[in-house]
Amino acid sequence: MSMATHNSAMGCMLTAILYVYVVSVAVSGRVLPLHPYLNGDEKPISNIFDTSNYGILQLNNGLARTPQMGWNSWNFFACDINETVIKETADALISTGLAKLGYIYVNIDDCWSDLVRDSKGQLVPDSKTFPSGINYLADYVHSKGLKLGIYSDAGAFTCQVRPGSLFHESDDAERFASWGVDYLKYDNCFNLGIEPEKRYPPMRDALNATGRSIFYSICEWGVHDPALWAGKVGNSWRTTDDIKDSWARSITSYVGLTLIVLIMTTIADLNDKWAAYAGPGGWNVGNGGMTYQEYRAHFSIWALMKAPLLIGCDVRNMTAETFEILSNEEVISVNQDPLGVQGRKVYAYGPNGCYQVWAGPLSGQRLAVILWNRCSKTGSITAKWSALGLESSISVSIRDLWKHEYISQDSVGSFSAGVDAHACEMYILTPLTETQPAS
Ligand code: GAL
Repeated sequence: MSMATHNSAMGCMLTAILYVYVVSVAVSGRVLPLHPYLNGDEKPISNIFDTSNYGILQLNNGLARTPQMGWNSWNFFACDINETVIKETADALISTGLAKLGYIYVNIDDCWSDLVRDSKGQLVPDSKTFPSGINYLADYVHSKGLKLGIYSDAGAFTCQVRPGSLFHESDDAERFASWGVDYLKYDNCFNLGIEPEKRYPPMRDALNATGRSIFYSICEWGVHDPALWAGKVGNSWRTTDDIKDSWARSITSYVGLTLIVLIMTTIADLNDKWAAYAGPGGWNVGNGGMTYQEYRAHFSIWALMKAPLLIGCDVRNMTAETFEILSNEEVISVNQDPLGVQGRKVYAYGPNGCYQVWAGPLSGQRLAVILWNRCSKTGSITAKWSALGLESSISVSIRDLWKHEYISQDSVGSFSAGVDAHACEMYILTPLTETQPAS
């Protein structure tokens, strides 16, 4: 997610076995946060504990046990990239402390390669912008404890008309591995009309055959509902088109042609649909960008949805506000929680449903809850236990993840907060037991 004027961010889940384990732990204790919703006075619009589609043959290459974190060049730099930008970005991830917080992937997007393959049919880096080669960059970022990502396309060309990897999967995967690449974003342009379900698996197999651990990030823009099939193919799959750095949906009409621009709030809603499919080993992916409060909401919702946290701004020149948002360890810990269940919208009311409660279970029988005000005026938003799937008598402590303090030690039934327009508040609710008071 990018925070300054350009952004990107993003996706999550849990195996069926783990889910059963969590239920049994909950039942054996006094605290029963898992509620069937059947008798709630306000039935939630989504069951935050629905993991029925989890673990359907996830790609088990050991990667993506939690959403990937790092940086991607596209949203801020587009084609204006070179090896100096990549090296300086790696340096900045270290010097700002972001790498220590988990942002370790330095991902080069489109435009790194020459316009044509070499005489042996191999991909080569653009000699003007990447004169030292990709191997050199991989060594550089590895020497700092970071990982290097690269980009290609499951088509004849990339979106910026560099050579694509369709029908060159083995050669290209071997190249990437020999260079020491750790991550591949695989795009969908110039796809010759062949279904993504046919074009994406060959690169999975080619990467696997190299013997190197390479994170496989599928970017087919959500066109064939990748949540339904991509878990077997990649470590993450983007569920939508590119995000724009804007809050609300904008629709621009040009003489008979309507262009729908996807903005942060729409992407959150689109990705919400796929909550039951994400999980360790595979993450839904979106993108983002806005005012301080809007960015904070963006980061909070992306973290809750277990989206990959891929920074899309120029980390060498971040504002203090951007850094404050990106470095909130409590919000990051929700994103990286080992339970890996994607949070979702559980309740919406008010004009056009603009007062919203989003929630998702965390390890330790805790719940992450976001009160999100998508209205244009400040308002008070209430989260009722019935909407959260908590039994009405359960007592919880409530920690505010942006204020970094407990706002209650023993709330029962519901809690409310005033939330500014377009802002959100984010909390962790920890059910109390007689023997385990929240500390
Ligand atoms: C688009 C993709 C973007 C970026 C761009 C590069 O298809 O959605 O995220 O990778 O191509 O040309």
